[in-house]
Amino acid sequence: MSVPDIHPDVERVLLSEEDIRTRLTEIGAQITADYADEPPILVGVLKGAVMVMADLARQIDLPVEMDWMAVSSYGSGTKSSGVVRILKDLSADISGRHVLIVEDIIDSGLTLKWLLSNLRSRGPASVQICTLLRKPDAARVEIDVRYVGFDIPTEFVIGYGLDYAERYRNIPYVGVLKPSVYES
Ligand code: IMP
Ligand code: MG
Repeated sequence: MSVPDIHPDVERVLLSEEDIRTRLTEIGAQITADYADEPPILVGVLKGAVMVMADLARQIDLPVEMDWMAVSSYGSGTKSSGVVRILKDLSADISGRHVLIVEDIIDSGLTLKWLLSNLRSRGPASVQICTLLRKPDAARVEIDVRYVGFDIPTEFVIGYGLDYAERYRNIPYVGVLKPSVYES
């Protein structure tokens, strides 16, 4: 197989396609075991979690459902504020259901904290979280994340669903964005 070209705006590759695939296979097996008696409804957070959802769901050997929410957290540039607005709500009624939130990345954790309390208010049987990536700041918010793909450093990353100004989501690996791209 040929080595794929690194995108010119990427400083370095943090996680290769292979790294991601291997880890999602492990997490999928874990979820399959943990939820054997009670298949969850997977709730993906648009748009970043699209790739994670697509690849993770195919590693879960249970009759799961998938649903989606889109939220926007007000904030400037690369920081979120914790003030969240629902752009698209779930189609499903989750009361009495086991919900597994599927996220791309937890940074400050503010978006997720809000989402958790919002979903909990709908009377689900349980709510757990699966995230592909987690940055160190997330530890400061008290959120119990059941499944974490990778703990990564505090750097701005793109690819595999993650964007900067809506770009780079279709890069197949996770890379550190060159600071010159957002500083210029
Ligand atoms: P939080 O509320 O700070 O946890 O923000 C989480 C959201 O911010 C994620 O769902 C992403 O949309 C975005 N985000 C945080 N860090 C990054 C990053 O390194 N690259 C791309 N998006 C990020
Ligand atoms: Mg996101």
